[in-house]
Amino acid sequence: MVSIRKAVFPVAGLGTRFLPATKAVPKEMLPVVDRPLIQYAVDEALEAGIDTLIFVTGRGKGAIEDHFDVAFELERTQADRGKSVAALEGTRLTPGNALFVRQQEPRGLGHAIWCAREVIGNDPFAIILPDELLIGRTKGCMAQMVDQYEKVGGNLVCALGVPMEETPSYGVIDPGARDGVLTEVKGLVEKPAAGTAPSNLMLPGRYILQPEVMSLLATQEAGAGGEVQLTDSMAKLIGSQPFHGVTFDGERFDCGSKLGFAQANFALASRDKDMGPALKAWANDLLTN
Ligand code: G1P
Repeated sequence: MVSIRKAVFPVAGLGTRFLPATKAVPKEMLPVVDRPLIQYAVDEALEAGIDTLIFVTGRGKGAIEDHFDVAFELERTQADRGKSVAALEGTRLTPGNALFVRQQEPRGLGHAIWCAREVIGNDPFAIILPDELLIGRTKGCMAQMVDQYEKVGGNLVCALGVPMEETPSYGVIDPGARDGVLTEVKGLVEKPAAGTAPSNLMLPGRYILQPEVMSLLATQEAGAGGEVQLTDSMAKLIGSQPFHGVTFDGERFDCGSKLGFAQANFALASRDKDMGPALKAWANDLLTN
């Protein structure tokens, strides 16, 4: 079986829900505690053994490219002052490992993924949506998915149970038989109308897909919300290739929403060994007085 070496990060979105913060700063650069969201996504991919990171970017997203470059002047200045650059660990991607392609029009997630087709070629690949921050219990979400991929191959999506009333906001799985953390995927629907979802298993933005999805995306009409939907092309693979959902063992923070973003900051900061105890004491005080 071909191992998963490539991951696509769609990062061209405008981030309008976070305006004015995202007027000049890409939403993927908003920090959760001390790391930008995109760094969590990249670390998750690297942990899963992925070494080619493909960013689908757009105008105004240059800060992402700079973040993963060598900050030569900064590093030299710190070194001259005898100061540490340890905090930059994990931010220096080599040019061969970090590739940037442009999505020139906002035509949806499916279109963003299709923009990476030349770099994907004939290889299976992963997709990570950076505004879904998934913190694995023992290992990261993508590493959990790669473990399952090595058993069953084909296509895999992360699957997460949510309250039924939330399903109209997401891609949703029509589930078949379940075997441990694997659930057969019989169908997929993007943003089902209220009361029509086939289950409460939503797609929280982690995928391992076969390259054939690219030719389906190439010819695809706009779907839900007038956008080219990845979910619609994935649905067309069902039946011709294995397709499974992987139940994720860990926590999800929807950092595409202000509430989820605030929760992620609080949860991760409260576990930090330096500031955690003081933050929790302060929060306790705030809530009880
Ligand atoms: C996208 C996907 C959807 C998925 C969601 C996760 O939707 O199309 O299937 O469940 O991300 O956040 P968006 O949030 O971009 O509308």
